[in-house]
Amino acid sequence: RILILDFGSQVTQLIARRVREAGVYCEILPFNAAPERIRSFKPKGVILSGGPASIYEGHAPKAPKEAFELGTPVLGICYGEQAICEQLGGKVEAGEAREFGRALLEIKEPCALFEGLWRPGEKHQVWMSHGDKVVKLPPGFRTVAVSENAPFAAIADDERRMYGVQFHPEVVHTPDGARLIRNFVRQVVGAEGDWTMAAFRQQAVEAIRRQVGKGRVICGLSGGVDSSVAAVLIHEAIGDQLTCIFVDHGLLRQGEAEQVVELFRGHYNIPLVHRDASHLFLGELALTEEPELKRKTIGRLFIDVFEEEARKIGGADFLAQGTLYPDVIESVSFTGGPSVTIKSHHNVGGLPERMRMKLVEPLRELFKDEVRELGRELGLPERMVRRHPFPGPGLAIRVLGSITKEKLDILRKADAIFLQEIENAGLYDAIWQAFAVLLPVRTVGVMGDARTYDQVCALRAVTSTDGMTADFFPFPMDFLGRVSTRIVNEVRGINRVVYDVTSKPPGTIEWE
Ligand code: XMP
Repeated sequence: RILILDFGSQVTQLIARRVREAGVYCEILPFNAAPERIRSFKPKGVILSGGPASIYEGHAPKAPKEAFELGTPVLGICYGEQAICEQLGGKVEAGEAREFGRALLEIKEPCALFEGLWRPGEKHQVWMSHGDKVVKLPPGFRTVAVSENAPFAAIADDERRMYGVQFHPEVVHTPDGARLIRNFVRQVVGAEGDWTMAAFRQQAVEAIRRQVGKGRVICGLSGGVDSSVAAVLIHEAIGDQLTCIFVDHGLLRQGEAEQVVELFRGHYNIPLVHRDASHLFLGELALTEEPELKRKTIGRLFIDVFEEEARKIGGADFLAQGTLYPDVIESVSFTGGPSVTIKSHHNVGGLPERMRMKLVEPLRELFKDEVRELGRELGLPERMVRRHPFPGPGLAIRVLGSITKEKLDILRKADAIFLQEIENAGLYDAIWQAFAVLLPVRTVGVMGDARTYDQVCALRAVTSTDGMTADFFPFPMDFLGRVSTRIVNEVRGINRVVYDVTSKPPGTIEWE
């Protein structure tokens, strides 16, 4: 087990990803976590993350003493390296030249981190992002690599097995970075590398059995990856003590509801309540055009219907949720203050408080791509495992303005064509999310010799790593042309197609 202490870097989660890719379990704690928590985690190695502060400033975050006193290997990255230096007797100052972006690292001496990777005399590309720099090493350390603006770009104390790098090995712009982190956790720390999804599956099944005993569990299915994987895993552990509830709000994409039912009832034979509540949802949604009100209405109705179904089942002790690790990590915030609500998210988040049930959250330790891996391990079909994210309120926020069944059906057809063409072009996995949006605007067109006056469909496709920022996907023009022709020809009600080229920020991914 590796402990990552977070100083608030944007990319701390990537360190965790790299450690786990090396087959070693790790967790992230804030730099100021209580000493007991650090000790009781019993790390075999510690990684200090980067961060935005300057270590020589009085109130700057310091690494906890335990990090250096446990006697385990330590790797400091960027701010983490500066913390090692400042706290163990070296010195850090503001640099005159800041170093951001690609830099060339010159290897000076052999080092355990570089084993099988880099040799003295070689130069390698790394990613730098720092204003401060180390000017004096603590006793016991030597310099093993330099860069133009960082004379102590990599440092080592072999005796104490402590290492520091000024660059960021966790980002892809340091091409050998993942292997460097692997060297640290596998060679220096000597961790086994037995964190695999097959092993996780076994442990998770045992843990679920221990937690649930003879109790009964209900699980809300949305058709998405997380709830599906959670349900299949829990079913493997406790069989028919699990009942799934699928609240169908009538806002899913073409064929989706049928697929959920077929997969769970047909393929896995998991007890499933399929409640078609589309009339209820569409009835209430007819009363509003306002995005926030739509979201709130859907959130409220979802909880009502779910509760009703849960009551019918009766006697459930546990509620299963597909909570993932990124939702669990305590974030280190230096900005503080309340943030503005851009969109109120609807997912099953409101349920636990209302229902006062104990939670079963078997995916709490996993990142999204690990959940996908586990899904494969459990035999979920590939199309389910690699699915793009889909918002809880579904197509309600993609039919802009007022919602009717007719509009939803028009949108479903256009959306299905867009996604089908993306699949055919082999682009699905290069895209974070792709979908059609139906605009409440009619424009004039000509088809055959007749005038048309129909709705506009906007296409949206973005790349992103976490949905927080995004860029529009650069489709070839002929691809967009093909999709546009198909949609206008095949979908009655749409006579014009536009492509959204807004990044996030300033746009958001969804239009409402
Ligand atoms: P925005 O539109 O805010 O979306 O850029 C960021 C990501 O969140 C998804 N999204 C939602 N997911 N419930 C969800 O579960 C919601 O209410 C919701 N609204 C947006 C969106 O699809 C994108 O992936």
